[in-house]
Formats: sequence, structure tokens, C-alpha cells
Amino acid sequence: MVNGSPHERGCVYTALEEIAGTLASEGVHGDIFWIGNKPISSCVDCGKCAETGRCAFNDRVNNFLAVAGEYDGFIFASPVHFAAATGGLTAFMGRAFFADLHSGQNRFALKPAAAVVSARRSGATATLDQINKFFLWGHMPIVSSRYWNMVYNDHRKAKTNVFAAKQHVWRQMIQGSFARCSLQ
Ligand SMILES: Cc1cc2nc3c(=O)[nH]c(=O)nc-3n(C[C@H](O)[C@H](O)[C@H](O)COP(=O)(O)O)c2cc1C
Repeated sequence: MVNGSPHERGCVYTALEEIAGTLASEGVHGDIFWIGNKPISSCVDCGKCAETGRCAFNDRVNNFLAVAGEYDGFIFASPVHFAAATGGLTAFMGRAFFADLHSGQNRFALKPAAAVVSARRSGATATLDQINKFFLWGHMPIVSSRYWNMVYNDHRKAKTNVFAAKQHVWRQMIQGSFARCSLQ
């Protein structure tokens, strides 16, 4: 689970913790990877990743790529910033997915994925669309919800967050789609 917020333990983290608890109750271990709060460059299309499988910019993207192949499914989560995913998460996912595709390492392809967003007021569905496009591009089956994968609140009131997607969605994720897919 990737926390795309500049806050290590804000609203997005609270939502991911809730998901982690549900996954754990079903016997599935999940880790939370925080992208950090340092500036993250977008892809500059230098092409180095095709040779190395890593990004030429050695930052949190490479930390993530180093472990991503070990996981069977992914949740990418973002606060809504200006009715969109954070610039940091957008740049992070762009570089991670591009480096993976162009090096043929297939850390993501055919593994189930879901997006989760946290907003104060509006822009949540646009942000879900934005994150889901990475999964569509990346050959990843998207785990749907019975409603919308979004939480509402300000990080100062994180404890009052209500996770709109019901827990059974995550059970479906575990029981239905989380079986490891093979590329062979
Ligand atoms: C720069 C910035 C832009 C934001 N833009 C929006 C917005 O367009 N719509 C919205 O509902 N909330 C917006 N917010 C509020 C956050 O989405 C909200 O507080 C979120 O729950 C914070 O999650 P976090 O604690 O994990 O960072 C914005 C916050 C910041 C810092």
C-alpha cells in the first residue's frame, strides 16, 4: 500500500491502516510505503530505466521498485490536491510504472490494484480516475468497490474518518482477485 500523502500519518494513512486491519483479519499481510515529503521529479524520458530497471533519479521511487516485485497486489492512495492526486504521487507512479515497463521486469502487470483517495470536500472521483489510469496502462486488474474508495476529512480530524468502501470489498480483493497471477 502506497501512501501518496505528504503526511506520513494523516488521513490517507488512517484509511490504509483500516484496510491493513481488514486484510490482516483475513490472513493477508500488507505494508504501507510512504512516498515521503521531499520533492519528486516527474519522468524526464531519459531512457536509462530500460537498461537498469531503476530510475536515473535515485530517490523513493527506486526504494519502492526494489521491493515492489515481492508483493502480490497494490493499493495506491492519495489525498486530493486541487481535485487531483498529489503531484508527488503522480510523478512517483509515472516513474515507477515507466521504469518497470521499459525494463520488462513486470513487477505490476496482472497483479490486482485499487486506488483510495482522501478529500476534504470535492475532487475525489477525478482523483480515483487519475490513479486508476495507471492500472489500466499497467495491465493490472482493478479491484472495484460496492461504492467509492474514498474517505472524507481533514487530517486534523483523521480519527473521524469514515471509510466509504465497506470492508467486504477488501475481503473480495483477498478471496477473489488476490491469487497470484502468473505471466507464463
Ligand atoms: C495543496 C492542497 C490542496 C487540496 N485540495 C483539495 C481539493 O481540491 N479538494 C478537497 O476536497 N480537499 C483538498 N485538500 C484537502 C486534503 O485532500 C485533505 O485534507 C486530505 O484528507 C488530507 O489527507 P492527508 O492527511 O493524508 O494528507 C487539499 C489539501 C492541500 C494541502
